[in-house]
Amino acid sequence: MNKLIVSLLLTLGISGMAQAAGAVTGAVTGVVGDAAAGQAKAAVCGACHGPDGNSMAPNFPKLAGQGQRYLLKQMHDIKDGKRTVLEMTGLLTNLQDQDLADISAYFSSQKGSVGAADPKLVAAGEALFRGGKLDQGMPSCLGCHSPNGAGNAAAGFPHLGGQHATYVAKQLTSFREGDRTNDGDTMIMRTIASKLSNKDIAALSAYIQGLH
Ligand code: HEC
Ligand code: HEC
Repeated sequence: MNKLIVSLLLTLGISGMAQAAGAVTGAVTGVVGDAAAGQAKAAVCGACHGPDGNSMAPNFPKLAGQGQRYLLKQMHDIKDGKRTVLEMTGLLTNLQDQDLADISAYFSSQKGSVGAADPKLVAAGEALFRGGKLDQGMPSCLGCHSPNGAGNAAAGFPHLGGQHATYVAKQLTSFREGDRTNDGDTMIMRTIASKLSNKDIAALSAYIQGLH
């Protein structure tokens, strides 16, 4: 091992090592989140999202097990008005970057629950999720959201598996109608959703709710 690193580890001790490791991850998101500190700061969020991020109401998204980078981006987007969430009006105003990072670390460290898929819609949903629509140039979902719906935390591609079907359907519809526009300059989700019918969205959402 590099001499410098060895002496650094000796000086910092175990907690310092964890911090140093966090600092490396933090280089991606900017601020390093602390899950323990985040739990206390997330108390107000639990009313809708569930104390551990597994919400009960189907229109409130589950945050448990969601990738930290994605969570942080959404919170900044909601705070800055790039994504409109009326239910959260004012809730993030007084939270600083460190608070948002801590809260993301907390929800990300929780285990996400999985729902059940409507058996009538599973086959159609699976075919779209895994195969896309080749004739319309629409890619499959699994390339970015992974075959089991776990997403790609490092890339900021959200975890979808087990998410409430009602919430997922609302997001796909919002992307399609241009009501949600925070998918960046690539417009990746707006482009994909523009190829989806209401029937496609219902099937995909049902499949995703049971996916794990
Ligand atoms: C009164 C209910 C309510 C409260 C309290 C609330 N939220 Fe939300 N939150 C929502 C709703 C509803 C949505 C989804 C809106 C939509 O359909 O786009 C949402 C969306 C989100 C998202 C995006 C999730 C995703 O998968 O894209 C994040 C992150 C989030 N909330 C974090 C928080 C945090 C952090 C707090 C506490 C500081 C909080 N929320 C408090 C209702 C609430
Ligand atoms: C090229 C990569 C890519 C592909 C392919 C893709 N997605 Fe996404 N998806 C993303 C990214 C990136 C985001 C986050 C956008 C943002 O930052 O708000 C996202 C967001 C979402 C969301 C919102 C999640 C939430 O918690 O609010 C849903 C739902 C979704 N995608 C479903 C799908 C479905 C269904 C398909 C296939 C029909 C698909 N995606 C294909 C990259 C992709």
